[in-house]
Amino acid sequence: MCPSNGSKFQAAKAYARASSFLTAAKQKVRKRFGKPEPESLLYGFDGTTTLNLVTTFPLYAPLTSGRYDDKAETTIQTINRLIPLLSDFAKAQSDKHLDIIDIREFPVSSTDLQYAEELKMLFDKYGSDKANSHNYHMLYGPLLKDRDQIASLLEIGVGTNNVDVLSNMGTGGKPGASLRAFRDFLTNAEIYGADIDERILFEEERIKTYYLDQTDSRSFDHLGKRIPSELDLIIDDGLHSPNANINTVLFGLQRIRIGGWLVVEDIAPNAIPVWELVAALLPANYTPHILTASGFVREKAGTFSLNDHAMAIFAAQRYE
Ligand SMILES: C[S@@+](CC[C@H](N)C(=O)[O-])C[C@H]1O[C@@H](n2cnc3c(N)ncnc32)[C@H](O)[C@@H]1O
Repeated sequence: MCPSNGSKFQAAKAYARASSFLTAAKQKVRKRFGKPEPESLLYGFDGTTTLNLVTTFPLYAPLTSGRYDDKAETTIQTINRLIPLLSDFAKAQSDKHLDIIDIREFPVSSTDLQYAEELKMLFDKYGSDKANSHNYHMLYGPLLKDRDQIASLLEIGVGTNNVDVLSNMGTGGKPGASLRAFRDFLTNAEIYGADIDERILFEEERIKTYYLDQTDSRSFDHLGKRIPSELDLIIDDGLHSPNANINTVLFGLQRIRIGGWLVVEDIAPNAIPVWELVAALLPANYTPHILTASGFVREKAGTFSLNDHAMAIFAAQRYE
């Protein structure tokens, strides 16, 4: 974070402390969901930036004559429409069929549900929000049911409680929460974590964590030298921006073993076309899924509620 953003953040924090409205809203969220909400969830939505859109977004700006305002408007339109249009184009060419289903429909047997529940208890125990905010245990339980056979898992996003990092868990967050849950669930597996925040990296029984900036493909090259060449499951729970996610996908396609899975968490519903496009472009030996899941929806400043379809998750299995 740059110093000006840092001071803005401090100012916002001071305002939040002083504001009884925000404090009441925070308490309401805490009371409803039984755990401290990520403090940073309350910020980062309001604000404006002055930019020249035509020179800042040359990929999207029309290469044409005309007034700046008209070009800026067309640039915004292109930013918002290009990926959905490419997604429609790719789907029309692809013979892969992709249904979008509710994550709660993913388990197909009582064993699937039993494993999902077991994993939920571990996520809750260690302080990961994967189950209580998102129902992701409904995917991971079934997907990891051959638990004794699973040898290695990589998760991008160890979980920082430093609020100067994007995608932090808030000051009450527990770094390594989901890694510990997976370690306890998968008794034969080595668990690898990667994160941009070096302050929270750690090593303990069957868990190793490494530095990674997932927006930089070279950083994946460094990580790749430190972890096994084949992985059973790669999870992206890091920055949650599409370009960083695509780097994970490109890395994952080189590393997932036959039968293994690649999962991208916390996809905004508006970004689903990105994942329909990725699904259409995936190699033929991968089966893609898009599942809707629950998450927080911002109702107005400082107020959030849980909604069953506020998020989506992308999962692809390599089958040969
Ligand atoms: C929501 S937290 C992960 C939570 C954890 N997986 C859990 O469930 O307990 C997201 C993490 O992504 C990390 N992150 C943010 N930007 C990143 C980047 N460019 N590369 C790698 N990690 C990043 C943050 O430091 C943070 O620790």
